[in-house]
Amino acid sequence: MNPTRLVIGTNRWRHSLPSALKERLLQEQCWVDTAEVYGLGRSELTVGELGAGIPVATKIMPWWWRSPKNLPRYSEQCRRRLRRDMLDLLLLHFPARRASGGWLQALAAEAFEGRATAVGLSEYTLPQLREAVRVLHPEGIQPRVVQIEVSPWQPNALRSGMIPFCNAHNIEIWGFRVLGGGALFGQPRNAHQAGVQKALAGVCARTGMSPVSVVIAWLRFYGIVPMLGVRSLTHLEQALNAREADLPPQERQAFEAAVFA
Ligand SMILES: NC(=O)c1ccc[n+]([C@@H]2O[C@H](COP(=O)([O-])OP(=O)(O)OC[C@H]3O[C@@H](n4cnc5c(N)ncnc54)[C@H](OP(=O)(O)O)[C@@H]3O)[C@@H](O)[C@H]2O)c1
Repeated sequence: MNPTRLVIGTNRWRHSLPSALKERLLQEQCWVDTAEVYGLGRSELTVGELGAGIPVATKIMPWWWRSPKNLPRYSEQCRRRLRRDMLDLLLLHFPARRASGGWLQALAAEAFEGRATAVGLSEYTLPQLREAVRVLHPEGIQPRVVQIEVSPWQPNALRSGMIPFCNAHNIEIWGFRVLGGGALFGQPRNAHQAGVQKALAGVCARTGMSPVSVVIAWLRFYGIVPMLGVRSLTHLEQALNAREADLPPQERQAFEAAVFA
């Protein structure tokens, strides 16, 4: 589903992109991730300017005051902002607190009725994902992607059993906030963050890799597709260059000693 093994996050896209960035995204055919809530629709509108030639994932909020029977309307609004007749990947942004089965069935109907090529789930824990797979199974629909937070600050998902479950069910894991929302480069807020930054600096010094390359290569070891919040051509190029980066096992272990400390 994701030949480039990299997803570009757009939660801070608000205005038309510089044409050089647009062209590069189209050329690379990176997946782009957005959501109806990002910038109250402005991220989707900006993604829509890229045209239909790029694969897009978007997410719908199953807020408690919303009814799953209205999901086709929300999905239609996403398609209109994104300027496309069909969504490549439609996800629930988080597990619904009310009528969670109804939301899953409504999501499945979007795929079944041809309005989305694939569906996915976001911010589900392993037990919630297991239950969702069970509910979707009789509908003949399998989630294709689960989005979870995974970063050097939040590595727990790597040891939660999520990975073997997703492998067994052919579900891709897309990791978000993999750069800690930028915190990887800022002032550490606690001893753990300071330790991770020090270990990362050591790996970079010994290997000549950039911090972004180390993180992407580290996640690739676990089969996780990184989603990176990118707004500039410079950051896009750094992310693209990082796709092929290889982290030697001893360096991964040195990094993980700090991450899992
Ligand atoms: N499913 C969900 O619930 C969920 C939740 C959160 C996020 N997401 C998705 O995941 C995407 C990524 O999350 P995120 O943007 O919060 O976190 P992120 O990718 O960890 O961090 C983005 C930050 O890193 C900086 N950055 C990016 N590339 C860099 C580079 N090469 N060198 C130095 N700094 C770099 C950005 O700088 P600038 O400020 O200069 O751009 C920005 O401050 C979002 O855009 C969204 O699509 C999904």
